[in-house]
Amino acid sequence: MNQIAHIDQVEVTGKDAITGYQAFKLGNFSITRDEYFAKVTWVAKGQEHSHLMSVDAFLRAIMRDVAWGFFYGWVNFDHVIGTQNHYGSVDFYAGTFNGVLKDAGVDYVENFATPKIMATFKAILHDWVNAGFDPFAAPEETGSAFGRKNGENIEAIDRYRIATKRMPSLEGDSPLRDDLEINRQFADVNQDEPLIHCEPGFEGQLGGFNLFKYLSRSDVTWNPSVTSVCKASLFCPTTEEYILPIFHGNDRVEWFMQFSDEITWDIGDKVDGAPIARIVMKPGDICAMPANIRHQGYSTKRSMLLVWENATPDLPEKFASGELAPYPVAF
Ligand code: PHB
Ligand code: FE
Repeated sequence: MNQIAHIDQVEVTGKDAITGYQAFKLGNFSITRDEYFAKVTWVAKGQEHSHLMSVDAFLRAIMRDVAWGFFYGWVNFDHVIGTQNHYGSVDFYAGTFNGVLKDAGVDYVENFATPKIMATFKAILHDWVNAGFDPFAAPEETGSAFGRKNGENIEAIDRYRIATKRMPSLEGDSPLRDDLEINRQFADVNQDEPLIHCEPGFEGQLGGFNLFKYLSRSDVTWNPSVTSVCKASLFCPTTEEYILPIFHGNDRVEWFMQFSDEITWDIGDKVDGAPIARIVMKPGDICAMPANIRHQGYSTKRSMLLVWENATPDLPEKFASGELAPYPVAF
């Protein structure tokens, strides 16, 4: 088994004699699974409260949180539980960003140093992901998450984000993974690489690659790779099939550009989850996700999406204080 960093910070409270799964404690939360569900338990108003999630959805969500280092802002696993990134520490909450539970005062939130919550989430994945289940894969392309403990899939869960080291295609950058097979739904994507003609003296400084070919071979879904970095501007293309496993709550504006096929987005209020809008994006469509919403996408046919992130430091404070409007443009 691979080393888990900060393993001493993980609190395992037992192992179920029938299912074989470990039970975890994270601060005052208990986190357990059975054959179908993940269960999160907390105390509020002197009483125990709990929340169930289908374990496949839970594992897909926690996998994204781990792979993305808790991402920008909020990663809602569903309408009740999730994390808020404070960039150095992370809140884990139950009901805090659900209008009904929050108003009833039965929510609970606790802050953790990032290494502790990261180690705990990784340990949950290591123990709860069975052989044959890949939390990054589309449901049609993976085995079952359900049932009693049955082996492990370390290879799938230790596959983190691919980041570029320099301009893709130039020597010294991360490999473009030509070894991966063309996905069944991208069989029609042209695989030709561009021809690069450099003026003498500029060899090795000018590059180009077929982004559609690269995406057609992605073996993961809903997992943007940072493919170019220009100052604070990050281009993060990704291939999408089935449901984005989280509701992302923005702490800044981000942009989507639909490269192929179609994604439907559900947009809700960031704070209480109330539904706001439904957006259908077709090839060529561009839209901005404001800083005051949460969003979750649905893609029936595997599609290609460009997520454009703004990594400018201090953006969360500027939006939270009202210095910046939540929308990129005022009409
Ligand atoms: C997002 O939260 O904006 C997001 C995350 C993962 C994706 C696409 C969009 O694959
Ligand atoms: Fe987002």
